[in-house]
Amino acid sequence: MSEEGLRTFCAALPKIELHAHLNTSFSKVTLQALVDRKIQLDPTFTSQKMTFDGNETAGIEESFSKFRQIHMVCNDAHAIYTLTHDIIHEFAADNVKYLELRSTPKTIPETGLTPEVYLECMLRAVRDCEEGGVDTVVRILPSIDRRNGVDVAYKTVDLAYKYAQSSNGVVCGIDFSGDPLVGDAADYVPVFQYAHSKGLKLALHLAEIASFEETHKVLQGTTVGRIGHGTFLHQCPEDYKDITQCVLQQRIPIETCMTSNLKSQTVSDYSSHHLEYWHNRQHPVIICTDGKGVYQTTVTEEYVHAARAFGLTRLKLWQLSLQSIDHIFADEATKQTLRRKWESIKPSFDFKDR
Ligand code: IMP
Ligand code: ZN
Repeated sequence: MSEEGLRTFCAALPKIELHAHLNTSFSKVTLQALVDRKIQLDPTFTSQKMTFDGNETAGIEESFSKFRQIHMVCNDAHAIYTLTHDIIHEFAADNVKYLELRSTPKTIPETGLTPEVYLECMLRAVRDCEEGGVDTVVRILPSIDRRNGVDVAYKTVDLAYKYAQSSNGVVCGIDFSGDPLVGDAADYVPVFQYAHSKGLKLALHLAEIASFEETHKVLQGTTVGRIGHGTFLHQCPEDYKDITQCVLQQRIPIETCMTSNLKSQTVSDYSSHHLEYWHNRQHPVIICTDGKGVYQTTVTEEYVHAARAFGLTRLKLWQLSLQSIDHIFADEATKQTLRRKWESIKPSFDFKDR
């Protein structure tokens, strides 16, 4: 398949994005505008580089150092609204027809941000995009940051539940993320059970590093909706072999973010990415970006990388995007609407690999 033909095909493909963090999914244009505004408000502010450009890679700590920089810039209602609004438009331009955007609702007294204000800014941007005719269905997952402890996590679940009721289902689940080197995911199992009892779906960052003990406990104690990264799920030592079995048997979908993993050095190259392991076993995988801004990628690019690395045909790429619909957190009616959209677009596609 020619590089040009493949990229054109992947760009035109209707796609689903299920793993995108708000503060790491900026475009360079939006980020620059927010940095300029920050400097106007605080002339002493100096910004550092917040993206991995080209083939740059660094250990996972460098990602978290960049996230801290971004959070200094995106720390008020204007920034949260602008990020959400622009990111939805950018995914729409990449033919993403359904987007789940996740973010940690923050308390920043200096700028008046509370978790409620934070979520309301995101919801207002979602509504404005919808009213403006953007052809992308958007859902929001408030994130639990594992650095903030269990008490904050319970509050995040309560907040998500409150907004799930008042937003007509736009808020529909919870993300669990944050620095995998900090804290113990197993401490959050009661919080996950609480969220599940409230009808909230759970997308959990798990086994992003070789943390088998906590991964095992979480899988034993939680109804996991989807797993983010899952980089080490298939490479368990003998004592933890049932981790792999459990994921396979329960068919827990895996959100794969290839460029993110490469750039943060948890995977060495595209062709050794774990997407292949799961895909070869007909296990559900969803191709995602993680942070299209920080890692300088797009959903289209991620499909191109997958096709190149694993020799996926155009028909396979189509099936991957179509089957992703099965794993969205929105309701059955939304799934049906999306499937009909895929069906109606399909005749305009040429599936010949050349
Ligand atoms: P935010 O929640 O919108 O502020 O997005 C940035 C946050 O997402 C970071 O501070 C982390 O808590 C989380 N995050 C982003 N990428 C990753 C990742 O690869 N692993 C774990 N957490 C992540
Ligand atoms: Zn992530």
